[in-house]
Amino acid sequence: MNITQQSIPTARGPMAWLEAGAGWPLILLHAFPLTADMWRPQLEQVPQGWRFIAPDLRGFGRAQSLPPKGGSQITMDDYAQDVCALMDGLKIGEAVIGGLSMGGYVAFALHRQSPSRFTGLVLADTRSQADTPLGRDGRARMREVLATGGPSAVADQMLPKLLSEAARRDGAEAAHLTRAMIESNTPEAIDAAIFALMERPDSTPDLAGISCATLVVVGELDEITPVAEAQEMQRALPRSTLTVIPGAGHLSNLEQPASFSRALGDFLLAHL
Ligand code: MLT
Repeated sequence: MNITQQSIPTARGPMAWLEAGAGWPLILLHAFPLTADMWRPQLEQVPQGWRFIAPDLRGFGRAQSLPPKGGSQITMDDYAQDVCALMDGLKIGEAVIGGLSMGGYVAFALHRQSPSRFTGLVLADTRSQADTPLGRDGRARMREVLATGGPSAVADQMLPKLLSEAARRDGAEAAHLTRAMIESNTPEAIDAAIFALMERPDSTPDLAGISCATLVVVGELDEITPVAEAQEMQRALPRSTLTVIPGAGHLSNLEQPASFSRALGDFLLAHL
C-alpha cells in the first residue's frame, strides 16, 4: 500500500502526518517517545474503504511538525487540540480516533474536548488512570536521564519496557525501528511530553460516558499497561470489546502487526 508523507498549515501551526488508503477516516496517535512511523505496519494494510491518518504529535517526528511549546508547558490537551486542528484542516468532521499508550491519553483528552468528533475509539496498550506518585518519581528520573544522556539514553531505559523479551531477542527489526524513532526526536520534544504525561488527569471518570463503539487492545506481555488494567478499563466502557494480542509487549502493533491489524480491521468492519 502506498504510504504518503504530508503536511499542511493548521490554525495551530504546521502539522505533518503519514497517510494511506481512501474512504472513512481513522486517526492513529502514536506512543511516547515515538513518531507516526510506529503505525507503518497498519498503514501498509488499510482495509478497503478506509483512510488511515497518523500524525506526528507536537514536536515529534518530521521537521515540519509543530515545535514544543516553551519547554515544559505542554499538556495532553495541547496535543488533542493539534489533532482537532488537523482534522479541521483536512475537513474531517468526525473519525474513528485511536491511540497507543500516550496516544490513548491524547484520545481521552480529545474526547473530553470534542466527543462529537468520534465515530469510534481505539484504545491500545493504554490506561485511563493518571500517574501514581511513584510513576511521577519515575518520570522525574527520566527527565534527568534525558538531560544527561539524551534520547539514546531514554531509548536504553525504555526499550526493555516497550518490547517483549522475545521481540528484543529475535525481532531485531522492531527493536531497531523503535530505537531509531526515539533517537530521531529532539530532547525538547521528549522533555515536553514527559511533563504532559506527568500532569495528565485521570480519565477513569469519563469511561462510563464514552458512548461510541470502542476497541480496547493490549499485548499479552505488556508490562507498562498490563492486560488486567485493560480488562478493567474495558468493563467500564459501555460499548467496548477487548482483544489481547498473543505474544506482544507494549508496542503490540509493531510486535505482532498481523494480529493487531486483524483486530483493528474486524472492529472497523463490525462496528462502523
Ligand atoms: C507510551 O508508550 O506512550 C508510554 O509508555 C506511556 C507512559 O509511560 O505512560
